[in-house]
Amino acid sequence: MRMHKKSHLEERIAACADIVKIADITQKNMKISAATPDILPLETIFGNANPVCLEIGCGKGKFVCETARLNPSINYIAVEKISNVLVEALERAKAENIKNVYFLNCAAEVLPRYFVRDSISRIYLNFSNPLPKEGYKKQRLTHPKFLNIYSGFLKSGGKIIQKTDDRDFYLFSLESYATCGYKIVSTCQNLAAEPVEGDVETEHERLFKERGKPIFRIEAEKL
Ligand SMILES: C[S@@+](CC[C@H](N)C(=O)[O-])C[C@H]1O[C@@H](n2cnc3c(N)ncnc32)[C@H](O)[C@@H]1O
Repeated sequence: MRMHKKSHLEERIAACADIVKIADITQKNMKISAATPDILPLETIFGNANPVCLEIGCGKGKFVCETARLNPSINYIAVEKISNVLVEALERAKAENIKNVYFLNCAAEVLPRYFVRDSISRIYLNFSNPLPKEGYKKQRLTHPKFLNIYSGFLKSGGKIIQKTDDRDFYLFSLESYATCGYKIVSTCQNLAAEPVEGDVETEHERLFKERGKPIFRIEAEKL
């Protein structure tokens, strides 16, 4: 379904310019873009050397804003490729005056250009599109192609924490972690029955819970 472009989108994003980096989309070839460094000065952006966690595919930003508020000594970068969605996350962070979150409007494919080795402590993948059709497999955010990208900047011992409502995507992801140098440290097939302390509910999670769907969760550690 095609999403209606929000009114005054560019002006609304421009009003949040201090908390967002908009990727250069003039380079259409993602491989070339990924290989063209534009390293984010993390300590300058946040004004401290606290650990930095990423959320990839943050949607409207409920998870990252609430998680950032609960953890003021951790910095968060939330990545979202669709500016029409991201604008709501930006406005939420501004309205709530959250200082330890910064946004990146780009696709996960080009993340290597922004981060140096060992710069990221944790990655959250919340309800990433499961893309069940075989032909779209390579676009799943836990496909080995992406896990290898994350390994370029995630610290050893750093975790990927994933939540999904999709059992097949959960099983696919488990296999993918195992083949890409990640150790599975915990799994859960019904988060409501085994809640994790400090875990924040996302927008999609709320919808799936309302429909009575079990939520799957994985913690995978980079070796
Ligand atoms: C199903 S939504 C989930 C949003 C939010 N994490 C939640 O749990 O409510 C998935 C989001 O991931 C974003 N996304 C999908 N593929 C992406 C990619 N390759 N790079 C960055 N964002 C991506 C989509 O635009 C969408 O906003």
